[in-house]
Amino acid sequence: MSKVDVLLGLQWGDEGKGKIVDVLTPKYDVIARFQGGPNAGHTLEFNGIKHVLRTIPSGIFHPEKLNVIGNGVLIEAAIFNDEISALREKGVEPTENLYISKKAHLILPTHRMLDAANEQAKGNAKIGSTLKGIGPAYTDKIARTGLRVGDILEFDFREKYELLKMQHMQTAKTLQFDIKKFRIDGMTLDQYEKRWMDSLDTLRSFKLINSEYFINRCLRGGKRVLAEGAQGSMLDIDFGSYPFVTSSSTITAGVCSGLGVPPSAIGKVMGITKAYCTRVGSGPFPTELFDETGKKLCDVGHEFGAVTGRPRRCGWIDIPALRYACMLNGVTHLIVTKPDVMNDFDEIKICTDYIIDDKEVDEIPFEYNEVEIKPRLQSFPGWKQDLSDFKKFKDLPLNLLNYLAEIEFQTGVKIMAVSISPDRKDVLFR
Ligand code: GDP
Ligand code: IMO
Ligand code: MG
Repeated sequence: MSKVDVLLGLQWGDEGKGKIVDVLTPKYDVIARFQGGPNAGHTLEFNGIKHVLRTIPSGIFHPEKLNVIGNGVLIEAAIFNDEISALREKGVEPTENLYISKKAHLILPTHRMLDAANEQAKGNAKIGSTLKGIGPAYTDKIARTGLRVGDILEFDFREKYELLKMQHMQTAKTLQFDIKKFRIDGMTLDQYEKRWMDSLDTLRSFKLINSEYFINRCLRGGKRVLAEGAQGSMLDIDFGSYPFVTSSSTITAGVCSGLGVPPSAIGKVMGITKAYCTRVGSGPFPTELFDETGKKLCDVGHEFGAVTGRPRRCGWIDIPALRYACMLNGVTHLIVTKPDVMNDFDEIKICTDYIIDDKEVDEIPFEYNEVEIKPRLQSFPGWKQDLSDFKKFKDLPLNLLNYLAEIEFQTGVKIMAVSISPDRKDVLFR
């Protein structure tokens, strides 16, 4: 019996998960997404092409590997259709090596409308959602009113759809949302609904399976499975900075419920962190920089959301949050991305602790959103060197190695690899 290795983000998302999964894929037989949906944007770059994946696992560029969209994932049919078209335009044909769980829930166009309605109703307290319908679709899942991929094969699908849509329209009215003015990609709800309905044919053309049986059979047959996380641990529904979170279990525990594998089947847990920190959307971010340095991280790091194009908030690496994420996930291996963004920094800082009311705090407080948190910062000299020619981990500049050693010391987890550019080829394994 083999194990499911896990790769997930330890911060607020966009740590470089897509790129690293693509690089690790040759070591595995099956790559599976277990939660989230098209709120994710996972960027891969190789041979001069850049590709952003939303719902499809990042192993899809390896035709001999199987990719599974697990039951814990949400699928928006029209976005999925676009994603498939974009792959086909690049010469990738995923029909044979992409399987989809029949138990994955569907995001309806009206879920997207409700996302917008909820955000509007929250006003200044809005979450900064990607507006892909994630919250409302998971709400229906938990309320036991959702529609699943397997339902699209049933004769009464349209009936069930209309019933759920009617409920959504009612809710939008209660929220005093102007349905007539609402647009998705410039389309009215009716126009978009037509597109969404047409896209169901694409979804039907894939292998729709009981993915929990499939994955467990793979494990029994000695196949190597990699679970690919979306979002990040600090956006987890239970442990993130609630309510400024996403609506799924983004941590290792989510792998079990999102794929149907027992906890005893979890193997390595690889956690990714940027060498600094970013966040997109609202919510606490103790190490956020509002100065020139923050702006420089954003500019040099091209820190703009892969899904919404919004600029990402930037700051120093946050060790209390990282330690928390390592604890929650049981991280066995760390991967650090994007140190190259700080190549010409004279000084680089690490937040080692939080100071709240003049007291040192080493836990993420329950009142994360309310209290004023001052980060205690430790300074490190920059390496002041271009990293692009480095081929071996051990040859990296000493100041970078010292910086990485501090991250290991602070988290108690060994770093297995460092990524130094967006390209597939630039990952230095230890
Ligand atoms: P994901 O959501 O975790 O897959 O990450 P995103 O794709 O949203 O954001 C990561 C961004 O950083 C993408 O634009 C990647 O191409 C880029 N990236 C990944 N690793 C590195 C790296 O080591 N250095 C640099 N400079 N960019 C990277
Ligand atoms: P990947 O997988 C970064 C953020 C949104 C918002 C909050 C809730 O690319 O790392 P939602 O659309 O889920 O209702 O948004 O979570 N968010 C992400 N931030 N990367 C992501 O995914 C994200 N997915 C959601 O910005 O603050
Ligand atoms: Mg992303």
